[in-house]
Amino acid sequence: MLTTELNERLTRVGPGTPMGTLLRHYWYPVAATSELGPEPIQRRLLGEDIVLYRKGDEIGVIEAQCPHRRASMRYAIVEERGIRCGYHGWLYGMDGQCLEQPAEPASSTFKDRIKAVTYRAEELGGLIFVYMGKDPAPLLPRFDLFVWDNCLRDVGHALLPMNWLQVMENSVDPHHVEWLHGHYMNFVRGISGEQQAEVLMRKHEKIAFDVFDYGIIKRRVLEGMTEEDEDWKVGHPLVFPAMLRVGGGGHYQFQIRVPVDDTHTSHFWYDVYKPDGDYIVAPQESVPLFEVPIYDEKGDYLVDFVDGQDVMAWASQGEIADRSNEHLGKSDLGVIMLRRLFQEQLDQVEGGADPLGVVRDESINDCITLPQEKKKFGTGAGFRYEFLTMGQCRYSPIAQDVLKLFEEAEKSLAGGDAMHHDASV
Ligand code: FES
Ligand SMILES: [Fe+2]
Repeated sequence: MLTTELNERLTRVGPGTPMGTLLRHYWYPVAATSELGPEPIQRRLLGEDIVLYRKGDEIGVIEAQCPHRRASMRYAIVEERGIRCGYHGWLYGMDGQCLEQPAEPASSTFKDRIKAVTYRAEELGGLIFVYMGKDPAPLLPRFDLFVWDNCLRDVGHALLPMNWLQVMENSVDPHHVEWLHGHYMNFVRGISGEQQAEVLMRKHEKIAFDVFDYGIIKRRVLEGMTEEDEDWKVGHPLVFPAMLRVGGGGHYQFQIRVPVDDTHTSHFWYDVYKPDGDYIVAPQESVPLFEVPIYDEKGDYLVDFVDGQDVMAWASQGEIADRSNEHLGKSDLGVIMLRRLFQEQLDQVEGGADPLGVVRDESINDCITLPQEKKKFGTGAGFRYEFLTMGQCRYSPIAQDVLKLFEEAEKSLAGGDAMHHDASV
């Protein structure tokens, strides 16, 4: 349980708030590379509306409302020298400096005193990332899944109606897997006579969490398994402050929880499909983006697949979960640890230091490798099959290509982690 004041401190993301200041030390994806063509696009990040535009090899980011009379820069003209508001033609350079005001007298120096707010953007792995913090900007971390070759990628997306922190708390809550994705899943699938998901029902005998350079590593021992299994020995990380690394059996995933504002989270499921061994995967021209449905035709949450169930749980906690009215037990160890870590990091930022995981050292940033078990839940392939056929991945335009990739890879690799078409392995 938290006081209302501490709940506010941990959840609010707007400019000038403590958490908003901490979160502005990191880069966030706001769009797929494929979404930004010749026309500007508008997004919301950390409670601020921004417009992105492409100018040659560079991406400009400018505040969404034109400083003149607040028309949207989404409807602007992209030019050689910058971006020109569509309403009265004020032109802004990439740094936000106003360069022209066509309707003002030719001798006017008014434009010299007008500067729009601008931010930085960089592309990596098929996504466009934005940094909204102070200079000098840290490096955009080149985490392994963004830079690997010899793999397929896709990106699922959904705009979710809740605060980002309850999404992150879920990433250090292993017990929910056997209930929400196991027993509850089987209840829901049982009603419609669908296949059960026994792979996800195994009881958690033991859980543990370790803080490391980029966040918290999560470990578990499931019923019938031991500390010798990868789920304990390797585990997988919550990447501080707003990402989860998960997957199994050649399916690797970042779940990136971008705080749009206090009550909305832009959720990216960044999937990488890379069979074990040296199986050659033909390069992709671009990384496809697809929307993940979260509601059925009646407006209820879709709860017959893992990702939909997670969304339901996060949303049903409320726009901002009321942590002054909760009852944490011993099994909430990870949630308690994450909140403590955020509090420590808030203090650190208030003391003028960088928070956890900010990367400023070029020499480590070619590829930052994060740990992830391969034989997840002792299977890997069964886990992957559940996600590819029943999870959000099935909505991907390359879903069939991915299934084919693993089938062919397994045929070519003797003794590999064989595909099980029965998810109850
Ligand atoms: S509102 Fe943009 S130029 Fe007038
Ligand atoms: Fe979950």
